[in-house]
Amino acid sequence: MGVEIDIRGLTKSFGRQVIWRDVTLTLPAGEISVLLGPSGTGKSVLLKTLVGLLRPDAGSIVIEGQDICRLKERDLYEVRKLFGVLFQDGALFGSMNLYDNVAFPLREHTRKSESEIRAVVREKMDLVGLVGAEDKLPGELSGGMRKRAGLARALVLDPKIILFDEPDSGLDPVRTAFLNQLIVDLNQRIGATILIVTHDINTARTVPDNIGLLYHRHLAMFGPREMLLSSEESVVRQFLNAQRVGPIGMSEEKDADELAAERDTELPPLPPIPLQMMPSDGVPRSRQRPPGQWCAENGIVPPAGSFGGSDVGADPAAAL
Ligand SMILES: Nc1ncnc2c1ncn2[C@@H]1O[C@H](COP(=O)(O)OP(=O)(O)O)[C@@H](O)[C@H]1O
Ligand SMILES: [Mg+2]
Repeated sequence: MGVEIDIRGLTKSFGRQVIWRDVTLTLPAGEISVLLGPSGTGKSVLLKTLVGLLRPDAGSIVIEGQDICRLKERDLYEVRKLFGVLFQDGALFGSMNLYDNVAFPLREHTRKSESEIRAVVREKMDLVGLVGAEDKLPGELSGGMRKRAGLARALVLDPKIILFDEPDSGLDPVRTAFLNQLIVDLNQRIGATILIVTHDINTARTVPDNIGLLYHRHLAMFGPREMLLSSEESVVRQFLNAQRVGPIGMSEEKDADELAAERDTELPPLPPIPLQMMPSDGVPRSRQRPPGQWCAENGIVPPAGSFGGSDVGADPAAAL
């Protein structure tokens, strides 16, 4: 089962460049969260800070009662075993076949025998649909297969937390949909706490339980998917609906004149909130909320046509 990650007042700068300040959020145990933000807002820096590869200037990251920002390198080594991380390109060793790539963390971090290792590698290759490709070199694979191999390797130590840095970058929409389904199925099976950094609005709208948005050196908002998808807050609204009109410009921020000119422009209505992606077998994940639940509990009328129906808010549970 996954574990909660409690992030309080996190601030990070490089020299005089502040990347973000006072980032506070809780990644709930066993839930899937997505982190969005324009390029260069420090999403990758945040992931690296979570696994202890970078130290924040201030703030805390509490996992299982320990503030990892205050741990010595030696103890961090133990905490890192809780994490499985899938970096952008899968970060496979080019000269090793897939089997050895996936077996690598087991050989480095455990005393398992080769036959035990074989069993684990086989199980994880099966999980990501790569059985039969063990002898292939990373260079012989498609981008999608490389990502799945990277995922298999991230899973071999049975992580309680899985971080994905732009898993969909360089993938076509069909492969992205397959990878998203794999992430949802994985969460259903192992219940790990998952954080996905992505640029893909469709992924953000349909996959996670929670969404966060980094913008202008701070966390603009973090909360349940339905909260952000029904939000009228201009930055959130612009980003989640991929609109040109709003405070985010080509060079991250618009100037005062541009914003003033837009203030009188009527914004298009919020699009319907889509149904959340279900696991392949149709059985909801243990932490999955029924569609419309957050809106109903918070007295928010979702945009017309939300959750795949025209009869908004009638009986949201019936749609699950
Ligand atoms: N190790 C580092 N040293 C100095 N600056 C860094 C380092 N890592 C990242 N940065 C800077 O931090 C900012 C955020 O980077 P990054 O987290 O990669 O953005 P994102 O993933 O949101 O696109 C960038 O301006 C980048 O140049
Ligand atoms: Mg990045």
